[in-house]
Order: sequence, then structure tokens, then C-alpha cells
Amino acid sequence: TSGKALAGKRALVTAGPTHEPIDPVRYIANRSSGKQGFAIAAALAEAGADVTLVAGPVALATPAGVSRIDVETAAEMAAAVEAALPADVAVMVAAVADWRTDGAEQKIKKSGDAPPTLSLIENPDILASLAANARRPALLIGFAAETQDVMTHAVVKRAHKGADWIVANDVSGDVMGGDRNSVHIVTAGGIESWPSASKDDVARRLVARIADALGASV
Ligand code: C5P
Repeated sequence: TSGKALAGKRALVTAGPTHEPIDPVRYIANRSSGKQGFAIAAALAEAGADVTLVAGPVALATPAGVSRIDVETAAEMAAAVEAALPADVAVMVAAVADWRTDGAEQKIKKSGDAPPTLSLIENPDILASLAANARRPALLIGFAAETQDVMTHAVVKRAHKGADWIVANDVSGDVMGGDRNSVHIVTAGGIESWPSASKDDVARRLVARIADALGASV
């Protein structure tokens, strides 16, 4: 082996938003630059892991040594995640749209009457499905972007989704699209709050923690 901490380990990362078409020219999306997820994929690859990055629509270059699969919708992301299994660790960073519409085949036209009503259908929860999958990765990590009561929501989310860890971040400031992040790591053992750092440094620190948890030497 290369002597790197995660050599021989398979890692799966989701990143970016999903786009759910309303019609051929419009979509519903979450706000996500993909920067934190791409930084984590890069750090995992640097640590020697075999990394599959399932990316929603973002304007970012593929990190060195990472296999990237581009998707648009939550349904496509769920299928790509399933196809990428097995994995030793999965880090679900994507801001998946919670709802989709039926998706009109033709552009919806302004009629001069009442505006159209969107009827929303719930998307599959990719993280929760992976937690229940027979091929669940040994270490399953979710993210939680919150604007208030960050840690309380993260503790509840960890239990509810069946993740091992939840990385919680307060996105009420300028985290969205920015280069820095301050996170809380929620595990079975409690909560660790990390100081504000660049998204690259948060990624490297998280990957060191992952290597530790997978029993690799760091
Ligand atoms: O419930 P919420 O969207 O806040 O949960 C965030 C976590 O769940 C993230 O790890 C995100 O990638 C994941 N998620 C998912 N599929 C969804 C919604 C969220 O994998 N449909």
C-alpha cells in the first residue's frame, strides 16, 4: 500500500444542490456551492481513499484523483449513490431538494389568469435510505445546515436519519458560497465544536477523524 491513512478504503461523497425541474426552463433548488463537499472529496483522495463524488449542478473543478458522477435531480443522485456502493465511508454533504414537482413537458406559459400552482412530491431521503441499506457504509456521515438551534437539530437529525455522525453548520452568516465554515461534530459520544476554519481545513480535519474511526493510522 501507499502508506496513506485511507489507502484501500472506498469513500462516497455527495455534494452540491439538486435541481428539480418545474418545466424545461425552470427548476427548484437549494442554495449550495458544493465547496465543502468538494473539499472533503479532495481531502479523502489526498489521504489515499478511492473516492466517488456524486455532484449536483455546481461550477467547480473535479478534485485530483476523484471519480466524479454528475447528476441533476435527487432521484438521479439516489441512483448514483446506490450504484457507487459498497463504500467504507459515505459523507453526504449535498443539499438535496426535499420536494420535486411532476415536471411539465412543455414550458408553462403566463396566461394572464391566476399563476400556476406547484404541487410538490417528497423526494427520497438519500442519507436515511443509505442508513437502512443492506450495504450501509461502516461510517455514515450526514450534514445539517441550520439557521437556528443548530446543535439541537443536529442531535435529532442524527437519530432520525440513522447516521453515525452529523456535521452541523450554522448557515445564518456567510457560509453559503463562502470559503470558511464553523461546524459541530455530533457523534454517539457527544458534540465537538470546531473553531471557524477554511472549508479545506474543515475537510482535512474531518478526514483525519474518519481515518481514526476506520481504524487507520493518521
Ligand atoms: O433533513 P436535512 O435536509 O436537513 O438533512 C441533511 C442531510 O441529509 C444531509 O447530509 C443531506 O445530504 C441529507 N439528505 C439526503 N437526501 C435528502 C435530504 C437530505 O441525503 N432528500
